[in-house]
This record gives sequence, structure tokens and C-alpha cells, in this order.
Amino acid sequence: MKNKMLLAFTVLAVLSFEAQGEEASKRAAKAEVSFKNDVRPLLYDHCLNCHSPGGKGYNKSGLDMTTYESLMKGTKFGPVVKPGDPETSTFVMLLEGRANPALRMPAGINGSLYRQHITTLRTWVHQGAKNN
Ligand code: HEC
Repeated sequence: MKNKMLLAFTVLAVLSFEAQGEEASKRAAKAEVSFKNDVRPLLYDHCLNCHSPGGKGYNKSGLDMTTYESLMKGTKFGPVVKPGDPETSTFVMLLEGRANPALRMPAGINGSLYRQHITTLRTWVHQGAKNN
């Protein structure tokens, strides 16, 4: 009897935890994402030490995330952000491990970006990758 109650309680706790996560990502998907306040801080924390002049991501690909303009310029092969189109933006594909599982960004620290951070970056691209 006691065990059953404990089980029911655990199931409920897990369900409500998941529901909260879903709510949060729905909210994130609706609100307008700001480059300055939401996107840039994530890039500075998780990408910039490799993706700025002198870093190994920059040296290898040419992608510099120091400014909006340099991010939008992309790699030496061209843009990685296609405004409005997260599905085919390399920037989002790499974060989600969709391009090539071995090439997941941030490189070398697999899965270190939280799902909500990836959602923020994806939503920003989806909303047109604005300099807002
Ligand atoms: C530890 C270093 C490191 C970190 C941190 C890092 N990268 Fe990279 N990144 C690289 C390297 C190295 C390459 C070049 C990969 C190659 O061409 O083999 C690269 C390439 C890329 C490319 C271009 C892929 C292409 O050639 O089309 C994108 C987009 C990218 N990174 C996004 C990010 C994002 C977004 C972050 C932060 C969430 C990030 N990276 C963090 C090292 C890093």
C-alpha cells in the first residue's frame, strides 16, 4: 500500500516536472528572442573562446561570433544562419547534432548546452535572426 502511494507520488512528480519543462519551452517559443539580451550572452559563454580571432573554431572555419555582423557573415564558405529557417541553418543543425553527430557544437563538450538554450537560439533564427 505504502509502496503504491510512493509510486503514484513519483509518477505525479515526474509528470508535473515534464509539464513545466514543456510550458517553459512553449513560452520561450512565443516570446520574441533578443540578440543582445538572449543570444549574444550564450555565444559569449559557450562559443566565443573558440569562435573569435585566434580561437580554434575561428582558425578552422573562419566563423567569428564576436558581433552580429561577423556571425551573419558565417564561415569562409558562407552563412551558417539562414534567417527564418532553423531547419537548414548549419548553426542550428550543429547545436542539435543533426549535421554530423561527430561535429556537435560546442565542440568537445558534448551536450553541454541546455535544451532551453538551444531552443532560444533556434527560436531566434526562426524569428528572422534579427539584430534586436
Ligand atoms: C572547443 C572549441 C569550440 C567551441 C567551444 C565551439 N566551437 Fe564551433 N567549431 C569549432 C571548430 C574546431 C570548428 C571547425 C570544425 C571543422 O571544420 O571540422 C567549428 C565550426 C563551427 C561551425 C561551422 C561548421 C561549418 O563548417 O559549416 C559552426 C556553425 C559552429 N562551429 C557553431 C558553434 C556554436 C554555435 C558554438 C557555441 C554553442 C560553438 N561552435 C562552440 C570549435 C568550437
